[in-house]
Amino acid sequence: MRCDVKTYPLTIATCAVYFVVGAALAQTPPSGTKLIENPLYKKECAKCHGKTAEGRHFGGPSLISEKTAAASVEDLRNITANGKGRMPKYAGKLTSEEIEGLVQQIRALNGK
Ligand code: HEC
Repeated sequence: MRCDVKTYPLTIATCAVYFVVGAALAQTPPSGTKLIENPLYKKECAKCHGKTAEGRHFGGPSLISEKTAAASVEDLRNITANGKGRMPKYAGKLTSEEIEGLVQQIRALNGK
C-alpha cells in the first residue's frame, strides 16, 4: 500500500477498522458449545478431567485420547451414568439428556 501524506489518514482508518473487527471476532466463541465450555462439565467433571479435558494427575484421565476416541457412544454413556473405578456415577445426578450432551461433546473433542 502506498503511504503518501494524502492516503495516510485513510490507512490508519482502515487499520483501525480491521483491528476492531478482528478483536470482536476473536472474542466470539466458536459455534456449537464445546465440552470445556459446557457449564456442567466445568462444575462436575473439570475437577478430575481438567479444565482442558486433558486429564489431571490423581484425578481423571484425558478425555482426548485414542482410548476415548475408540469408545462407543454406549461406552461413554455407561461410564458417565454408572461410573467406573474412581469415576463417580452421574445417573440420578444429571438427566439422561445432560449425560447425552456431555457424551456428544466428548465425541466431538475426539473428532467424531
Ligand atoms: C472424582 C473424579 C472424577 C470426576 C468428578 C469425573 N470423572 Fe470421569 N473418570 C475419572 C476416572 C478416574 C476415570 C477412569 C476410570 C477407569 O477407567 O477406571 C474416568 C473416566 C471417564 C470416562 C472414560 C474415558 C475413556 O477414555 O474411557 C469418561 C467418558 C468420563 N470419565 C467422563 C466424565 C464426565 C462427563 C464427568 C462429569 C459429568 C466426569 N467424568 C467426572 C474420574 C472422574
